[in-house]
Amino acid sequence: MGSVGPRVIVALDFSDPAQAHQLASRLSPDLCRLKVGKELFVRGGPALVTRLVELDYDVFLDLKFHDIPNTAAGACRGAAELGVWMLNVHVSGGRRMLDASVAALANLSHPPLLIGVTLLTSLVAEDLNELGLFGEPEDRVSSWAELAAQCGLDGVVCSAHEAARLRSERGPGFVLVTPGIRLKHSASDDQRRIMTPVQATACGVDYLVVGRPITKSDDPMRELLAIRSEISDD
Ligand code: C5P
Repeated sequence: MGSVGPRVIVALDFSDPAQAHQLASRLSPDLCRLKVGKELFVRGGPALVTRLVELDYDVFLDLKFHDIPNTAAGACRGAAELGVWMLNVHVSGGRRMLDASVAALANLSHPPLLIGVTLLTSLVAEDLNELGLFGEPEDRVSSWAELAAQCGLDGVVCSAHEAARLRSERGPGFVLVTPGIRLKHSASDDQRRIMTPVQATACGVDYLVVGRPITKSDDPMRELLAIRSEISDD
């Protein structure tokens, strides 16, 4: 397992940057990392990311870049200059976009981890067929993870259900980042296939992305500590 430091990444899925900042102040960079996605970024922008970095948090900037190689590379470079710890691109942007993204980060003294998004887990086989993507979704996830590895990406975002296969195919150094994590007592919200922190860890997941169980809790720190203690993240 390649991770050092907290393995829980709290997804700050707020539309109000002030709320995101408030939650960050109630948690601790020694106990979790933070994820900023599109919803929050379009409202809080780089200024919010900088404030979170200044609070000493490792920030995963989850903007899933997908563009022509030059543009994706420029976006990766700009994100890195904000001081983020992890960022991501769609593997479906293709080899040249992936190569350009890796190259954009290559000469930095502290490059962020570059993670690939394979198939969005919201897509079912029918959606994929409509897009002309035939075959088993798990096989496509596997082959796109292989492409990500070939291009020098550090790992992929995957569902916990894909993690065991990817871990065995890609070996120990490949970073697996996984949403859809719930403690037994938590609501599943709109996640269709969930796993507990223990199950996900047993499947080889490095980083657990947890949103609503923490962000909607009346005691976010208690929830975070419960998850951490389940996976002995201390
Ligand atoms: O609230 P919850 O724990 O379900 O949040 C999960 C986070 O992971 C959200 O930010 C969501 O956008 C993200 N995510 C996901 N499923 C994916 C990729 C990302 O739930 N396949």
